[in-house]
Amino acid sequence: MADVMVSGSVKITGTGMGLPKRIVTNDDLAKMMDTSDEWIRQRSGIETRRWLTDGESPSGFALEAAQMALKAAGREPKDIEFVLVATLSPEQYFPGTCSFLQAKLGLGTTPGLDIRAQCSGFIYGLEVGKALIASGQYNRILLVGVEVQSVALEKANRGRDVAVLFGDGAGAAILERVPESGVGIRRVITKLEGINADKLGVACPGATKLNWIEPKDIEDGTIHPRMDGKFVFKNAVTRMPEIIMDVLAKENLKIEDVDFWLFHQANLRINEHIAQAMGIPPEKVYNNIQKYGNMSAASIPVALNECVQSGKIKKGSLVMMTAFGAGFTWGSALVRM
Ligand code: UT7
Repeated sequence: MADVMVSGSVKITGTGMGLPKRIVTNDDLAKMMDTSDEWIRQRSGIETRRWLTDGESPSGFALEAAQMALKAAGREPKDIEFVLVATLSPEQYFPGTCSFLQAKLGLGTTPGLDIRAQCSGFIYGLEVGKALIASGQYNRILLVGVEVQSVALEKANRGRDVAVLFGDGAGAAILERVPESGVGIRRVITKLEGINADKLGVACPGATKLNWIEPKDIEDGTIHPRMDGKFVFKNAVTRMPEIIMDVLAKENLKIEDVDFWLFHQANLRINEHIAQAMGIPPEKVYNNIQKYGNMSAASIPVALNECVQSGKIKKGSLVMMTAFGAGFTWGSALVRM
């Protein structure tokens, strides 16, 4: 998107997160399917993840994240003019999670929408949020990435390659117009390659069959996420560096100009491979997949919030956030905090 603003810039003024209470270890999973702590750690880096328990919901995690982000920004729900929710795991088939979050925030008739860009959802959200503010239409937007993926996983041998990877949670950011120019969300580039849509996804329920869900769909497991892991891995380690170099080139910057790097948390091996191949020092990269697994659209905003809280990312830090996921979608955002 061209860097056009009515005036000023679009800045992230607050971040937050909300997680399920239940912690699921690799050993817990080994009781449900033929897997082991050793396999999961070696292949993915994951040690634990959070999974939803009774009484919790996607909009509940999103609310917690939103409230924390609002507080950090010194704002109240009534200050929000538009709500963006990035998710691949909506609270219901329709309406999307945004409706439930908007109601929980007591936002009356404030508009909002759900973004379906899977693991790249937060990056797409930054692009859409920036465009809505840059157009002059809005001044303050709440952007949430939220997932509850645990309920759809096939917690059995057939689904073990996917089931051990995913976790639930929410991360949020407040996007605001600020008067200074050249700060905040400097550049976002997003990509989509729909030809690979069948490499990672949940095929059923879908709208290509006359019956919503049939016993055969349950027997065949098409109601659960399926992934061609090696193909996705290869594409992630190719596409993420490619788009990072694209953003840097457009901004006339070099790798060493970036203060901090947040990659999507799909696999620790993917992130270590990218950092090493690109010459990014490990101390400038933060990973939390060890604790939370892959939270799709929530991974980057939760990592962002943790780094802001711990002081790894400071006011003025130049941060590159990059994601890759189902669709295939991928994207990178360069943000001056
Ligand atoms: O967020 C969206 C983007 N997602 C990604 O970027 C994920 C990309 N892919 C990956 O991270 C990796 O491909 C995985 C972690 C999913 C899998 O790692 P892999 O090194 O590609 O393993 P594999 O699928 O080739 O499986 C190796 C072996 C197989 O056994 P055989 O055929 O060698 O006997 C699998 O059946 O490991 C077996 N296996 C498991 N064993 C224990 C698969 N899943 C498991 C499991 N526990 N959970």
